Amino acid sequence: MALNGLLDIELSVPNPDELVAFWERRGMLQTADGVLGTADRDVQLRVADGTYRHMSELHMSCETDQDLADIAGRIAQMGVDSQILDTRLTCVDPVFGHRVVIDVTTPHPLTPTQARAWNHAGTQERLNARSDAVTEAHPRAPRRLGHVVLGTPHFEKATAFFFDGLGFKVSDQILNGVATFGRIESDHHNLLIQPAPTSYINHYALEMDDIDAIGKAGQSVLAERADANVVGVGRHHLGSNIFWYLTDPSGTMFEFFSDIDQIVDDEAWERDHCKRDWMGSDGPTPVSVWGPQEPETFLNPADLPAIGAAREALGLD
Ligand SMILES: [Fe+2]
Repeated sequence: MALNGLLDIELSVPNPDELVAFWERRGMLQTADGVLGTADRDVQLRVADGTYRHMSELHMSCETDQDLADIAGRIAQMGVDSQILDTRLTCVDPVFGHRVVIDVTTPHPLTPTQARAWNHAGTQERLNARSDAVTEAHPRAPRRLGHVVLGTPHFEKATAFFFDGLGFKVSDQILNGVATFGRIESDHHNLLIQPAPTSYINHYALEMDDIDAIGKAGQSVLAERADANVVGVGRHHLGSNIFWYLTDPSGTMFEFFSDIDQIVDDEAWERDHCKRDWMGSDGPTPVSVWGPQEPETFLNPADLPAIGAAREALGLD
């Protein structure tokens, strides 16, 4: 099946200690210097020193040595050199400039969520007791890194690299194929490539147990920085995930998400199963089924010109 997991990412930021401390306060664990993990996965976010905020490495897994050779062959045809050492392939993303590292392995499975008893209409599960969401002492911690969203003016080249080169599968496309949701796991998307004025990471997304875990963790961020809110809580159309977007201390948007679509049978998944016009011919396609309208900064954060200038200084367009 080739690629089979999003393992972790490295974020380079001007103040790494501040970012690490922020995620530790959300319940993530610093498992090594600058390395943040979750209860099930030791490495999810690696934080490094950088002159501007950007994703500096994308680390994924694949099933076999042959997968590495196949990927190397496909990206070579695109003019991208790679190195294979033992069971690891490394290369540099031809658009964004981050390192791409692929290991022959598989992500550590997650311990199942401790489900909260819920009183649905007609199906009462919690009797004579308050909700766990009310009584638990601390917000639940993130469970794992689920996806990243990258914006770039060179979206065609980026899409070709990820989908035709690395082997991501297309889950949905919108805007006449300009924005592409792709997966390497069963999640509806581990990646979205979308247009932007400069190449940057739009957001990284952490899976949470449920909507209460999202709400309580998001609330704890707002208690520290009231201006951290971007948009949420809501439910997306594509992926169906419940979301809340906020900014981390470096200014990068992140998403707390839950209940994302799972695609375990490629043939059973119909990209246009909703029979809805995802192209937005009758106006902009709404991001969410319900929830607040996303602000301009959702797609165009205020520091994009500064990121563009920083990249230009490094010879990246
Ligand atoms: Fe997302």
